[in-house]
Amino acid sequence: MQNISSIYQNSSRPIVDRVDDLLNRMTLAEKIGQMTQAEKNSIPPEDVKNYYLGSVLSGGGGVPEVNTPETWREMVQSYIRPSLETRLAIPAIYGVDAVHGHNNVIDATIFPHNIGLGASRDTDLVRRIVQATARTLLATNVHWNFSPAVSVPQDIRWGRTYEGYSEDTDIVIQMSQAYLEGLQNPDLGDVNMLGCAKHFVGDGGTTWGTTKIPQWTLEGNWQVPDDMFKIDQGDTQLDEDELRKIHIAPYITAIDGGVRSVMVSHSMWNGVKMHAHKYLVTDVLKGEMGFTGFVVSDWMSINQISEDYYTCVVKAINAGIDMNMVPYDYKLFIQTLTKAVDAGDVTLERIDDAVRRILTVKFELGLFEQPYTHEQWLDYIGADDHRDLAREAAQKTATLLKNDNSALPLRSEQSILVAGQAADDIGLACGGWTISWQGMVGAITKGTTLLDGIRQHSENVTYSVDGSADERANVAVVVIAEDPYAEGIGDRPDLNITDEQKQLIRTTRTNCDKLVLVIYSGRPLIIADVLDDCDAVVAAWLPGSEASALADNLYGDVLFTAKLSYTWVESMEQLPRKNSGSAKWQVGHGLSL
Ligand code: BGC
Ligand code: BGC
Repeated sequence: MQNISSIYQNSSRPIVDRVDDLLNRMTLAEKIGQMTQAEKNSIPPEDVKNYYLGSVLSGGGGVPEVNTPETWREMVQSYIRPSLETRLAIPAIYGVDAVHGHNNVIDATIFPHNIGLGASRDTDLVRRIVQATARTLLATNVHWNFSPAVSVPQDIRWGRTYEGYSEDTDIVIQMSQAYLEGLQNPDLGDVNMLGCAKHFVGDGGTTWGTTKIPQWTLEGNWQVPDDMFKIDQGDTQLDEDELRKIHIAPYITAIDGGVRSVMVSHSMWNGVKMHAHKYLVTDVLKGEMGFTGFVVSDWMSINQISEDYYTCVVKAINAGIDMNMVPYDYKLFIQTLTKAVDAGDVTLERIDDAVRRILTVKFELGLFEQPYTHEQWLDYIGADDHRDLAREAAQKTATLLKNDNSALPLRSEQSILVAGQAADDIGLACGGWTISWQGMVGAITKGTTLLDGIRQHSENVTYSVDGSADERANVAVVVIAEDPYAEGIGDRPDLNITDEQKQLIRTTRTNCDKLVLVIYSGRPLIIADVLDDCDAVVAAWLPGSEASALADNLYGDVLFTAKLSYTWVESMEQLPRKNSGSAKWQVGHGLSL
């Protein structure tokens, strides 16, 4: 340990004094180290010490070899420990994407994705979910959550639509405000969490067909497949007034709400990469909007600025990026930035400003006093009350779009035919960013399915994956789902449900008197071709690990209260959002029983 008499180590001194004192003691190498973030599989823990790294992250699926809450805690600790062994003992901060619960950890509770929470309009629910999530993060020594996404998706073909609460800016603002209140107040003594508003700015406003991921940034010989990355990371073609009104507005509230980190968007604004956009990042965000926290880049995104890495580093840091999510070749980044400072292409003033921001936030979080959290908190992970909360959330996000012929509520004396693989699949109910980056089909973590829930309500239940049945049922519940995806891998040119899904509905229709369609999806899907075959339709979004709870909605034990936060379109012509005015189910639509 350092000599406690140094000002920066004295927690009773004002943070500005501590930062000044520490900054004065730091070498250039120590400063550039603070500005560097590596992903955990690319860095041996001792290099956190050797290169004075400021931060380490897990990307989606960046899990320990054996994935348990305990091994998570140890893994994170193994990266923080070397930072405490450096000359100045500046704690590294560990970051993850806990976008619907501590979602990389097996058996942690998985909450609904934001698209569902937007439909709930329930800010108190969001606050409680995030508070629960914050506790599980802190239990594993994670102090930084790359969340909330304050994106305002304008085109649901985007593979990140479900990460956004709504296509409507006001709804995004309300929900993300509640998110930050919950995240930043985990109610665990002095320990605290850092949120991250992302992706600054216009990530949800890109135009289909404008994505250009340079080949030099792709790993190995990987080529972007023709049907992916069509809108994710693309160009937001808007004038400044519209950009401010639709996409910048949520950042103003997030800053008011105390957010202390902002992640820059992979996308462009009118052809200029956000990672090189000094006007928006420095003049608008830090200057005009008064953001005094720090700005982090997105995953390897500065590399897209130019084929020449030196240019990338100079432009990105001068644009106002304070910490670089490198995430692989941290040595190259450190060398390059050092060279740029030596050459005078990046000033020491800019470096000091970046480091000052990062250190300020680390002091605010109390990391210098308490880099490790209590081991007993591991009990929060997957705890019963979190599962109850996830049940409540699934119920409050389920949106009833149609209910004819009194198809709902179901009654326990009815014979029920449950159809579709999704009815009994946890992975499909959780979607992307669950255990792995893209998410997976199957029993990927602990949880319950809608089929389990229905069986608790009725004795006469038949389950058929393809909808075939020997006997006719009073009611069929057909569950269809999008296969899990994340980011540009989920960009889709056509949102019509698949022919197999239509066939499933039609086959089931011949075996039931009434048919209830339940949809697990990260965005509205086009169901016009089968709508007449369905007496009732429920958009359950991506409900998470406690999907059995949805049965309580179907049986009328809890009310449907959710309202669409995205327009539900009937044809591809009604996309993007600006063409959706004539769609039958507008934002706000949602029936109750
Ligand atoms: C995503 C971010 C995420 C980061 C770390 C990026 O590719 O765009 O949303 O926080 O990876 O996983
Ligand atoms: C990581 C994600 C990240 C993505 C970006 C993946 O390998 O797991 O977290 O967002 O790369 O391309």
